[in-house]
Amino acid sequence: MDIDIEALFAPITINGHAVKNRLSVAPMTRISATEDGRATETMIRYYERFARGGFGTVITEGIYTDQAFSQGYVQQPGMTDEVQANAWKPVVKNIKSHGAFAIAQMMHAGAISQANRFRDTTVGPSSVQPKGEQMTFYHGNGGYALPAAITDEQIADTIAGMAASAARAIEVAGFDAIEIHGANGYLLDQFLTDYTNTRADRWGGVTENRVRLILETFKAVRGKLGAKTPVGVRISQGKVNDYHHKWADAERDAEIIFGGLADAGADFIHVTEFEAWKPAFAPGGPSLMNLARRYAPKAVILANGGLHNVEQAVEALDDGADIIAIGRGALANPDLPKRLLDRGALNDFDPTILGPIANIKESELAM
Ligand SMILES: Cc1cc2nc3c(=O)[nH]c(=O)nc-3n(C[C@H](O)[C@H](O)[C@H](O)COP(=O)(O)O)c2cc1C
Repeated sequence: MDIDIEALFAPITINGHAVKNRLSVAPMTRISATEDGRATETMIRYYERFARGGFGTVITEGIYTDQAFSQGYVQQPGMTDEVQANAWKPVVKNIKSHGAFAIAQMMHAGAISQANRFRDTTVGPSSVQPKGEQMTFYHGNGGYALPAAITDEQIADTIAGMAASAARAIEVAGFDAIEIHGANGYLLDQFLTDYTNTRADRWGGVTENRVRLILETFKAVRGKLGAKTPVGVRISQGKVNDYHHKWADAERDAEIIFGGLADAGADFIHVTEFEAWKPAFAPGGPSLMNLARRYAPKAVILANGGLHNVEQAVEALDDGADIIAIGRGALANPDLPKRLLDRGALNDFDPTILGPIANIKESELAM
């Protein structure tokens, strides 16, 4: 194996902020916070290992953003008040002490919330039964609840919650940047998705309407944080409860979504697909990262999905990605960047570490 890995170690800037290399930890929910949503000692140690291992960027797990409908999981961390924000401080401090860039992911679970200590019911764009079954490794059991259609007032509260939590993440916890979770079947993606959003108002119908909540959320976060703080959005086709979903209007949808984010001024776009290098739509066509690059030429593009293979990671940089986000490969190799530099072998991902419950295990922290 003689692959030129140098490109993975070239520095880059995101909205003027220096990032030391092209390797990022992908966001991963590990339900290891306290019941009331505070980051724990275990999380401090867990996140620090990735920074010590050479990752240039660490993106947190999805953090819930309000005390209404956003929480998705038992022991998910939140950013909804000063107490929760303060609990993140040592996590961020330790990530940054190794020179890594710390990004907080803001997440609203919407209709696929499995647990929420603030509410007994769920909301989605429309009252449509979510596909699939709850995730047992996050303490779920059986189908999802039927959500109520979110009201205009609740939409406004959702956006305000995202913006206020983003401000706490930057100003109190000390994060460098914000990623808005617009992917994987959670609330913002439920609005984007044709079959979960059957609204007839300005939030539903054509793709330009269905992407509106993502763009309005982005604008509210940007408005709260100002122009200098990096803000980006994560986008996918597939969902945790529908892996194979494809956008109906294919490249035209990609143009509307990525072009909309570009026009709104997104500093970065994080695209995720099961296998990031594959054509996003028809065989032989461009990948999703390539389309993001094309329609948002000024944004930093993060690509994710099966890219722990170094050869594919390097190729992704040629296919439009600027930064490679690695999930399972980082769990198996918290020191993956250092291993690449040392030409060491990578460990295979062992799915048993996520079972029976996906919480952080002591055995990982010893790695
Ligand atoms: C245990 C686990 C938890 C995850 N939690 C999140 C999350 O909170 N937010 C998110 O955007 N993606 C989440 N993901 C998806 C990952 O960010 C990533 O897209 C996925 O693992 C595919 O990338 P990989 O092939 O590098 O593992 C999670 C994945 C795993 C394995």
